[in-house]
Order: sequence, then structure tokens, then C-alpha cells
Amino acid sequence: MPKLPDSVLSCFDVNGDLLPEDVLKYAFHQLLSNNGYVQVVDVPESFDHVAFLKELGDFQPTPTGTVVGDLKPESDMDDIYHAQNRRPLVPHTEGYEFRGLPPRYLSLWCVKPASGAGGETTMLDGRRVLEEFTEEEQRHFRETVYHWKSTEGLARRGVALDAEHPVLEDRGDETVFRFSFNNLVVPEGDELAARLLRRGKEIYDESHVAVRYRARDMIVWDNWRMMHSRNAFDDPTRHLKRVQIAAPVVA
Ligand SMILES: [Fe+2]
Repeated sequence: MPKLPDSVLSCFDVNGDLLPEDVLKYAFHQLLSNNGYVQVVDVPESFDHVAFLKELGDFQPTPTGTVVGDLKPESDMDDIYHAQNRRPLVPHTEGYEFRGLPPRYLSLWCVKPASGAGGETTMLDGRRVLEEFTEEEQRHFRETVYHWKSTEGLARRGVALDAEHPVLEDRGDETVFRFSFNNLVVPEGDELAARLLRRGKEIYDESHVAVRYRARDMIVWDNWRMMHSRNAFDDPTRHLKRVQIAAPVVA
């Protein structure tokens, strides 16, 4: 299966001049809606990530109350499944275990890249997985309410969430896709849900894009559409910043 389209946006044009802000924003929105994600590279020191992202919507705090989060390995977390360690993650969409809607967009930007191998953020368009399922089968994912657990890592930090949601949820013209390879509880006998997880992981492993960071690089993705994960790394000083952006409230 071919890889996702590249969706890389440089802050500089071919002549080496900094893109005007309106040109950068226009290209950014085009790539985000066409491909589901954007990787912004060659980011100048003057770039204000937080101000740029605020135009996408309100920041949504994480379960631990953080608005602009720091993703750094926590040394007591290396033994379990948790975002704040150096081990690999498995494919998921963010916020499947939240009670309400998951964040519409997620963004990560790099303060300090991991030296050595690993540490890439990986992504796959969820449509690539859903297109393996007929309309009838997708109806099952709209009508069946599943149980979603939160991670062991959050539990160790005193946050135990769980929620009941379908895999697919329509919101106006948009569809929210929820996925978690390890925390969607597959009910006994639900072959479709078992196949969703199995094929989701297989397609992810074959076709994901892997984003390797340089300092200040930023990725933004549509979390109602894209799955993401992370490769393992060694460098304990890798440091990313992270925000979740809520869907606009529709009256
Ligand atoms: Fe995540």
C-alpha cells in the first residue's frame, strides 16, 4: 500500500525568503484539509507556535489539567504504557477515553529532538482503514457503543477515565473516528471490532508516515480523522510541546 502523501510545509520559499504570514496560513489550511495533517519545517526562531495554533480553536486541557503540555520522558514510567516515557506507543486517536468529544486537532512541536534513532511521531489517515469496511459494516460502528479504557500511565498519575462511545460518530457534516489498538474493549463475539483493530494495526504498520523532528518543527493533525503513534527512542532529553484544540462549539 502506498504511503500517505507528503504534507510538508517549509516556512521559506525556494529563494530562501520567509513566507508571508498569510501565504503560510493559506498553504497550511490547504494541506490540513486535503491530507489530514501538516508538518511545518524550517521554522524560524521568531515563530510563535502558541499564537499560530490559537487561530485553529480553543485549547482543550488534558485529563491532568495541562493546556500547553511538555512531553518529556518521566523516569518512573518506563515500565508501562504511557505517553511520557521512551517506549513505543500503539496506534490510536487522542481522547477516545474522554467523556465528550475528542479534541479536533492535535499539535506537537519540537523543543529538543531525540539524538540517535527513534522518537518519530507516526500517523495514518483513518480513512485508509475505514475503506476496508462496507457501509453496512460501518453502520455497526455507528450503532454499537463500546467501552474505552484509559492508559496504565494515567492511572498511575491518579487519572482513571473510561467512557462509552461508538467508533464512528456523526457531528453535522463531519464524522468523528475513534480508535485505540489497546484500549478499545472488544465485546465477546464482535468480529467486526476485532477486525477493525487487527486491520487497523496492519495497515498502520505498512503505510504510516513517520515525522522526524528538527528544533521548532511542528505537526498538526485532524484528530477526528487521523490515527497516530510514536516510535521508541533512547535520548532522555527529547522534549516536545503538545496542545489539544477543541472543536468549535456549534449552536
Ligand atoms: Fe496520543
